[in-house]
Amino acid sequence: MRRPLVAGNWKMNGSRTESAALLDGIRKGISAASRAEVAVCPPYILIPLAAEKLAGSPAVWGGQNLSVHKSGAYTGEISGPMLRDYGCTYVIVGHSERRTLYGETDAMVAEKYGAAQAAGLIPILCVGETLQEREANQTEAVVARQLEAVLDQHGIGSFKNAVIAYEPVWAIGTGKTATPQQAQEVHRFIRSRLTARDKTVAENTRILYGGSMKGSNAKELLAQPDIDGGLIGGASLQAEEFLTICRAAD
Ligand code: PGA
Repeated sequence: MRRPLVAGNWKMNGSRTESAALLDGIRKGISAASRAEVAVCPPYILIPLAAEKLAGSPAVWGGQNLSVHKSGAYTGEISGPMLRDYGCTYVIVGHSERRTLYGETDAMVAEKYGAAQAAGLIPILCVGETLQEREANQTEAVVARQLEAVLDQHGIGSFKNAVIAYEPVWAIGTGKTATPQQAQEVHRFIRSRLTARDKTVAENTRILYGGSMKGSNAKELLAQPDIDGGLIGGASLQAEEFLTICRAAD
């Protein structure tokens, strides 16, 4: 049985005061008995606050990005070992905003995935097609290319310690969610690519859906057989909304 994971991607949002209140709200609302695992990925600068607020709770925290390097003269970067040092469990790699706005290629994403695992972090590998690619019937080709870039470099065995997030770019921050059927189709496809390499790993790998998931649509998305949780942007910035999704994953 795959344990569902609901991870909040705060992106570049939150003052110290707002974030403290959000973290307190999440801590208060999650129950130790919950089946779903809950994670938050705040901006780097708020990670120590998340560590302080969530320590000893069932919730874990992570980064939104990392450097491929461990340390050195890389102004403005944060490394995997640094995230680990602040108690991070997860780190998002290859989010579409990193790919499109910061020029991260499949090769760079694969390198970051390896750097995350080398530091003892669990990468949440994001894949997904743009609207143009979907309309050109390229969804499977794009997702396969993004996935194979990592599989070729790190092997199927590395997915014992990784999470995949399918995030159709056209659904991110747009309020346009993939239908449960559209999402399930791609999730099944992703799992089939893993199955082609190793059936057991494929069965145990969690594949999250991301893209305008919220309290009101989480249940039917999470009811799909190959959807094992969510990567939540906008809806993770309000404790009650985020907790509703966490409960839907239980
Ligand atoms: P959204 O973002 O929930 O605001 O669409 C999801 C994501 O980008 O991870």
